[in-house]
This record gives sequence, C-alpha cells and structure tokens, in this order.
Amino acid sequence: MRIGILTGGGDCPGLNAVVRGIVSSKRSDMEIFGFMRGWNGPLEADYIPLNTEDVEGIHILGGTILGTSRTNPFKKEEDTKKLFENLEKLKIDAIIAIGGDDTLSVAAKLSSFHFPVVGVPKTIDNDVSNTDYTFGFHTAVNVGADAIDRLHSTAKSHNRVFYVEIMGREAGWIALEAGLASGAHLVLIPEYPMTLDEIMSVVDKRMERGGYCIVAVAEGFKPTEFEDEINKHKAVDAFGHVQLGGIAELLTEITKERRSYETRSVVLGHLLRGGTPTAFDRNLGTRYGVHAMELIKKQDYGRMVALSGNDIVSVPIEYGVATKKLVPYDYYKLCTLFFG
Ligand code: F6P
Repeated sequence: MRIGILTGGGDCPGLNAVVRGIVSSKRSDMEIFGFMRGWNGPLEADYIPLNTEDVEGIHILGGTILGTSRTNPFKKEEDTKKLFENLEKLKIDAIIAIGGDDTLSVAAKLSSFHFPVVGVPKTIDNDVSNTDYTFGFHTAVNVGADAIDRLHSTAKSHNRVFYVEIMGREAGWIALEAGLASGAHLVLIPEYPMTLDEIMSVVDKRMERGGYCIVAVAEGFKPTEFEDEINKHKAVDAFGHVQLGGIAELLTEITKERRSYETRSVVLGHLLRGGTPTAFDRNLGTRYGVHAMELIKKQDYGRMVALSGNDIVSVPIEYGVATKKLVPYDYYKLCTLFFG
C-alpha cells in the first residue's frame, strides 16, 4: 500500500511530530511518499520516500521537513485534472493531509470524489471545529505570553502603552490565552469587537491605576467603527484570504492622536509559529500521526483525527472545516475581569 502525506497552509510547531508518528507506525507492506510543499507536491509529482530512519528525532524540530504552501488544486480545472492524473500515475492508495481549514477543505473535496483521505488538524490559531486543540497552539500561546511578560518591565519603566499584535484571523484564541497568562490589561479579539472610545476608556483606567498598559490585540480584530479587516499589505492568497496586519500600528496612531501617552506597537507575527514545539505539541502531534495511520490501517477514510478531552478520536473530515471554532463568550467574560 502506498500512502502520500503532505503538510499545507502556514507552518506550525508539531508538524514534524505528526510526520514521525505516521511513518513510525506504518506496516512493513506500506510505503510513504512525503509530498513536498502541501498540495503542490501531488500537483507536481514532487515527493520524497520516507522511512523510519528519515524521521528519527524530527519531532523536536519546528517547521516541516516536507515544506508547505497554500496551493489550492481545485482552483483551476487543469490543476484538478493534474492532481487526479498524478495520484493515479504514482499509484497513491490514500492521502494523509495535515493542515488547517484550507488544506482540510481540499482533503474533504478529494474525499467527496471517493479518494481515500484522512485529515490531521493543524493551526496555531486553534480555530478548527470539533477538536479541543490543534497542535502548535500551545507553543504559540507560550511564545506570546513570554513576549508580553518581557514587555511589562519596559512598558512600566517608560510609562508607556503597548499594543501587541498576535496572530489570529477569525478567532482570538492565541491573544486571549497569551494575554490572560501574562496579565495583559486588555485583550482585543475578532469575536468581541469594541469601539475606539471603549478601548480608550480601558487604557485610561489602566494608565491611572498602574501607570502603563499592555493591550494584546489579535490581527483579525477591528474596532466596531471599521467595516473591513486591517490589511496593510493588500495581499490575498489562493484561498481568498487577505494577508492581515497593521491593527497594532493603527491603534498606536489613534491613541497618540487622542491622548498624550507614549505609545508603541509590537508585532509578534511569525515568531509565534517558528522554533521548537512545546512538549504538549510534540506529544499531541505524535498521537495524531499514530492515530491517522490507525485509520488508514482500518480503511476508515474521510475522517479527521481530533482531541476530545484527553482522548484521540476521529470525526468526519467536513466537521473540522464546516465552521470556525471561536472563543465562547463565557471564556472571554472571565478574561474581562482582569481588564483595566
Ligand atoms: O496559519 C494561520 C496563520 O498563522 C494566521 O494566524 C495568519 O493570519 C496567517 O497564518 C499568516 O500566514 P502567512 O503570513 O504565513 O501567509
């Protein structure tokens, strides 16, 4: 049996642990083709064979040994044709797709054509539905919390306001959990917009009480007054997503216009997803990889592995991509106790 595996979308700490988990649990009659750069691999018939010795020790490494891209093979008809031709030519019996909503939506589509597929949910944003956590999120929260921990001393010394921009497109999980852990004085997330006046009043309260203020802001947050997301780069990817960025800078400028506080912005950006995964993410990735291979062995296709409590389970792949898992109000409300 020949199994193709690929990693697609933004890279994420823990991807290599999944790859190692899959390869290490293969049967001796199984061959693994590691497709390079996401769905671009099967499109270009670009792959490397993977054996146990190739994946030894990779679970501690960040990034992905297979490379990644945001390729959508269903965007153009000629690409879709090429995808099916190559899968046949290479005699691929099944694919394990490791990715977020875009990569998994391609996997779901492939599965709807009765091609055997298993999905593994990945994203630092933690917004894939029907799984308690995606790997990479834990690492990103730790990096974010560590960065804010460090900003406290410099913000305090200078009596400054800091806006810290944190990845999170439609869901503010990373900003919320990193902000809560590190004692940010306000957390702004896409799910719960605030007006500029409301933001300024929390900043004022905090400046009066503590003499400095740290605001964690998810990149997908926009103040109530704004219609569109803040997209200073003006770029759009193959799945139609705009490249977000600029909210911390914008809020810094607005604060300077309205108040006399010294104000700065820090963009954590890709620092959140670079580097080695935490032990939690290594182990979650490993467990996902081994479980994905179990599904292949049972020929239980069209499924996505998922975490439920402390158990690895599986759900229909479409369940992961149908809706985004957003921060529930109760959790956000708990965090508001520490605002100001
Ligand atoms: O993988 C999701 C994500 O981390 C989002 O939070 C962010 O908007 C996006 O990736 C940025 O990706 P890139 O700049 O690498 O295309």
